Amino acid sequence: MDTLLLDGNHRNDIERAGELLRAGEVVGIPTETVYGLAANALNSEAVKKIFAAKGRPADNPLIVHISDISQWKSLVREIPEAAMRLAEAFWPGPLTVILEKSDIIPLETSGGLSTVGVRFPAHPIARAVISAAGVPLAAPSANRSGKPSPTTFDHLKEDMNSRVAALLDGGDCGVGVESTVITLAGGKPRLLRPGGITLAQLESVLGHVEVDPAVLDKLKEGVEAASPGMKYKHYAPGAEVFLVDASPVDFADHVNQNAPCHALCFDEDVPMLAVPYLSYGARFDRAAQAQHVFSALHKLDELGAEKVFAHMPSKSGMGLAVYNRLIRAAAFRVVHPEKPYIIGLTGQTGAGKSTVGERLSAAGLAVIDCDKLTRSESVYNSECIAELQKAFGDDVAPDGVLDRRTLAARAFADSESKARLEKITFPRILSAVRGKVKEAADRGCKVIVLDAPTLFEAGFDRECAAVLVVTAPQTERVARIKQRDGLTDEQAMQRLSAQHEESFYTERADWVIVNCNGCDISAEIATILDELDRKDL
Ligand code: TXA
Ligand code: MG
Repeated sequence: MDTLLLDGNHRNDIERAGELLRAGEVVGIPTETVYGLAANALNSEAVKKIFAAKGRPADNPLIVHISDISQWKSLVREIPEAAMRLAEAFWPGPLTVILEKSDIIPLETSGGLSTVGVRFPAHPIARAVISAAGVPLAAPSANRSGKPSPTTFDHLKEDMNSRVAALLDGGDCGVGVESTVITLAGGKPRLLRPGGITLAQLESVLGHVEVDPAVLDKLKEGVEAASPGMKYKHYAPGAEVFLVDASPVDFADHVNQNAPCHALCFDEDVPMLAVPYLSYGARFDRAAQAQHVFSALHKLDELGAEKVFAHMPSKSGMGLAVYNRLIRAAAFRVVHPEKPYIIGLTGQTGAGKSTVGERLSAAGLAVIDCDKLTRSESVYNSECIAELQKAFGDDVAPDGVLDRRTLAARAFADSESKARLEKITFPRILSAVRGKVKEAADRGCKVIVLDAPTLFEAGFDRECAAVLVVTAPQTERVARIKQRDGLTDEQAMQRLSAQHEESFYTERADWVIVNCNGCDISAEIATILDELDRKDL
């Protein structure tokens, strides 16, 4: 078939795409998530052409795209209030809402189900095409079934040139992973596929949302999939992919030891790698990872990669969507290097990290108090003291004995001095921490917690496979540090203002525990311990 290549920035080309769609043809279109393969959702013959072009099993339903909320009503039996609230909060945008379908949706579109997923995309070209077609458009991701979804026009052409009537160029997709799919058809809201709208965003509108087990794990033999797409092989590139659940340091070691192979890594891993690599974003920038993960999988195929070790993304925030795609690309193969699994425990001062540390310690994990090590003799040895005297004046250690007050006054006077102090102390603290980690590992501890207020500043996070952040309301944090350290209001506020905002920590977290006065944190602790148990370390 001759495939017409169209430019989404030209009005005439959008009109042409609209005509083809009205005539029952299939057109590849850009959306803010991934490229889609669109056809008239109400025309079963047109919809069958999508299944043929993709090689998609007929029982895997299609999402129906609209360009105006008013089109929704005719597609579903009724729109419950909760669905309306979701639409108000997140449409147009990367969210698909499943409800009981109306009779105008053919069974071909719904894959034989009585329900239909509807999405109002945010991409201006997608919306223009839907309007030009004048009908709602069924559009699955435009990949050949089983392959990673296309997020660039080149990747769309690779998969679909000569298979459909036209492909419409809209540049690169911004979100990079498909829409979040939530069903309200069963009464209770349930997340079927994580995507561009996070679970926390959904819960901010709906309260508790159940997560379908297939989001995180392989479906058990004989269990029916709530979302038929989840039972099929998915997002798989040509290469054999393994997810490595490890810190940047241990990831790099593992990959380097397993050459020849390719690394699908984070930016931070790059300097430590001795094999060909492709980064899919910075370690804590989960939106960037989502944006690049599919194109990276495509590029690894172009590079001829046969074995790929991918650095495991976090399951937190947008990370859940990235994890959900990569774990399938890896056919659920997860590697844990034979190293202790180190968790960084951090947060703002007064948030209650130590309480959490005590609970984890009581549960049998090894907890290393990095703050205590920071003040220890092994860090402030004579060599260190000499360097401090050189940097800050002899009187920071009269007679070789450290005068912490004077040192603090000099070193915390300005950011430059602080940096000078850290340059001297951080490497020493790190080696003291490594010593303690080794001791714990030698005792047979598999999970080690670093209680470290300056986890990121000191670069300890590079040694951590996961990050646990503790938060508490500001008023409570102030009261706690006043009491603990005998500070005035003013001193306490000053100390807080010298710290990162809460979001700095939560954006980097794999788990967040809110440790407010009177909060029972048992459930959160249990969840973490359970997740660690299941890792089979
Ligand atoms: O971002 C997106 O949603 C993209 C763009 C093109 O809009 N589309 C997309 O469609 O990802 P598709 O078909 O590749 O993925 C839809 C997923 C499938 O796993 C399918 O099984 C599930 O949603 N799904 C669709 N309708 C459903 C329904 N009625 N009940 C349960 N799952 C459904
Ligand atoms: Mg798909």
